[in-house]
Amino acid sequence: MAQSPLIFILAGAFFSYILYTRITLYLARRRFIKENGCQPCLGRFHKDPILGLDALKTMNYNSKHHIVLQENKKRFERLGRTFHNRMVTMPIIATCEPENVKTILSLKFKDYSFGNRQKAFTPLLGHGIFNADGERWSNSRHLLRPNFARDQVADLEAFERHFKLMLKHLPRDGKTVDLQKLFFRFTIDSATEFLFNHSTNSLRMVGQEDANNEDVIFGKAFNFAQDDIGTRMRFGALDRFRKNEKGQEAIRICHEYIEKFVDDALRFRKELDHEKKAGSAEDEKYYFIQEVAKQTTDKKRIRDELINILLAGRDTTASLLSNMFFEIARRPDIYAKLRDEVATLGGRTPTYEELRSLKYLKHCLNESLRIHPVVPGNTRFAIRDTVLPLGGGPDGKHPLFVPKGTTVGYSPYVMHRRKDLYGPDADEYKPERWETLRPGWEYLPFNGGPRICLGQQYALTEASYVTVRLVQEFKEMESRDPEPWIESLTLTLCSLNGTKVGLTPA
Ligand code: HEM
Repeated sequence: MAQSPLIFILAGAFFSYILYTRITLYLARRRFIKENGCQPCLGRFHKDPILGLDALKTMNYNSKHHIVLQENKKRFERLGRTFHNRMVTMPIIATCEPENVKTILSLKFKDYSFGNRQKAFTPLLGHGIFNADGERWSNSRHLLRPNFARDQVADLEAFERHFKLMLKHLPRDGKTVDLQKLFFRFTIDSATEFLFNHSTNSLRMVGQEDANNEDVIFGKAFNFAQDDIGTRMRFGALDRFRKNEKGQEAIRICHEYIEKFVDDALRFRKELDHEKKAGSAEDEKYYFIQEVAKQTTDKKRIRDELINILLAGRDTTASLLSNMFFEIARRPDIYAKLRDEVATLGGRTPTYEELRSLKYLKHCLNESLRIHPVVPGNTRFAIRDTVLPLGGGPDGKHPLFVPKGTTVGYSPYVMHRRKDLYGPDADEYKPERWETLRPGWEYLPFNGGPRICLGQQYALTEASYVTVRLVQEFKEMESRDPEPWIESLTLTLCSLNGTKVGLTPA
């Protein structure tokens, strides 16, 4: 009994402290809002004010019916260019304003982190560049950046080798072929060669998907582990209760496969150190993994960085090619124009400089990334109270307060199709618009600011090379997709029904 007053005193002190911090926070925020001229955002997607379950239900329905992006666009048209949303306990601000995107990714870069997304990625990706924030990310970027120099990304001989293998699977008798499936094989084969100095050579294994071959097993495990990231994201905090032995096994296979190459690279570094001491080291072409091993001997670190880049670089470039050829196959005029431009090479395989000089090719790629951006939506998490320049007030033209703990989602897909920015034909695939178009932050396929895609040049070189070679080999391409383009949205965006075409040899 004698303790009761003490308990009351402690409880009183605790609640006073909570009240005091709440009031101080409230006053500080009121001041911050006033100083920045912020006004409330009036657009609101969710009707359930506590958990936003109605919004969650709509999102699940859209995802099941492959209409996430088109519905998101309609939502922006209905609610305004910036609006509020809520997913269970997560407050969200969604925006398609280029000025806001510039603020999140560049001007106020330090006010944001990746937030919860890391939890879903960590089992496969560890703490590599794609999954790190702050100092850790900065170290990764510093470590990897030199490997994306021109000499490294312009290995056209490797692209040609993989292209020749792909060519074997392209029917020359007009039979229908799904280019998308082959592009996915092409990019994993070239990315694994670029990164590990060992290609999965999946194009050699077409029709042998059940082979007990470690490259085939890795390819399947990587696909599974990557899809499982999406599942983990959807389950969120509940994922820890999910039984997922197959997912864990897939991750184990991926890690073990890559660790073998890491061991080789570390052995290479030891030999190099030895040769340097003896003064007999020679300059030769080093592969990505060997370069990284020259800078760190931390085996897990090297493995994590490489698997991050494989994930960032594989499906993205394959999706770009698939989406672009889906459009071009329906437009014989565009195919013919592309062929005319490529004919200036006189039938030779292109050099790096020649690839860069093909303007119409560049316009075709740009335009595909505009209407089908491979990373169509993205998020950042406010780690302190901050402000967006637009979205507040009835017209959305005033600054908007972003409380710490808010997820800000931005949509390149919606931005890229805004009619006020791209004209009334914004939904059409029209490479010619790039003759005069010079967009800023309203065009963002590779992200912007300090975290801009590191592999942009590699991706564009690879996609350009494959396009030129295809156009050289085939004089006509005909679409065999009876349906319009339908989204398949996983970590990247490609066509649900693939890219089915018939080809006429040149
Ligand atoms: C068409 C092809 C590609 C597109 C559209 C694309 C797009 C993007 C985007 C939007 C991001 C930002 C992700 C974020 O911060 O949330 C990104 C980051 C990144 N990309 Fe790409 N990417 C492509 C190809 C590649 C390739 C081929 C590689 C490597 C070989 C690569 C390596 C990376 C890396 C390492 C990052 C992380 C950069 C950082 O956080 O500092 N990407 N990419």
